[in-house]
Amino acid sequence: MRHTLFRNVLGLRAQRPARLKMCLAGAMFAVLAGGAVTHPAAAKVLDHATTNYLTHCGGCHGIQGISARTFVPVLRDHVGTFTCSAEGRAYISRVPGVSMSLIRDDQDLADVMNFVLFRMGGASTPAGTKPFTAAEIHTLRAQPISTTDLLTLRAEVLARATAQCPR
Ligand code: HEC
Repeated sequence: MRHTLFRNVLGLRAQRPARLKMCLAGAMFAVLAGGAVTHPAAAKVLDHATTNYLTHCGGCHGIQGISARTFVPVLRDHVGTFTCSAEGRAYISRVPGVSMSLIRDDQDLADVMNFVLFRMGGASTPAGTKPFTAAEIHTLRAQPISTTDLLTLRAEVLARATAQCPR
């Protein structure tokens, strides 16, 4: 009953639910790709890393890596700066949201971090940056950041990384 009401409200009574799901997934893909909805079949290219990002990270960081004006950092066109130093590269995998992520498989988490670095990081990710490997993620996530003053640590790590970025 409720389901029918929902579809009536959307004016989609004539559409089958599967079709509706495809439309929603297509719209989500289009938002990620930064363009307009072109075709619902575009949903097919939503890969595992993208889906994992949306499920496990996007709720806080925003589906495009642009978080609301809160203490959650914006990833888009910014996060890559951390990789200018080894310390910064380690830092972004040791923050609680990453190291303690419910994405338990190291390769899956490496894929999400690479999605974040190379798809969201844009020009902030220096040319030649190496992708994260499962082994690297495995080591880093075993050392989650334990400071109670993350903001201060972040500022210091970011300043040191920025100073090492290629100009
Ligand atoms: C519950 C909300 C939340 C979730 C879920 C979350 N994060 Fe975060 N993330 C934060 C906050 C808040 C910070 C700032 C540091 C801190 O306080 O932990 C942060 C910091 C980061 C940073 C460092 C960037 C910077 O500019 O400081 C990266 C990279 C990151 N998160 C990626 C991810 C990824 C990838 C996922 C999913 C696997 C994820 N986060 C899940 C809230 C979240």
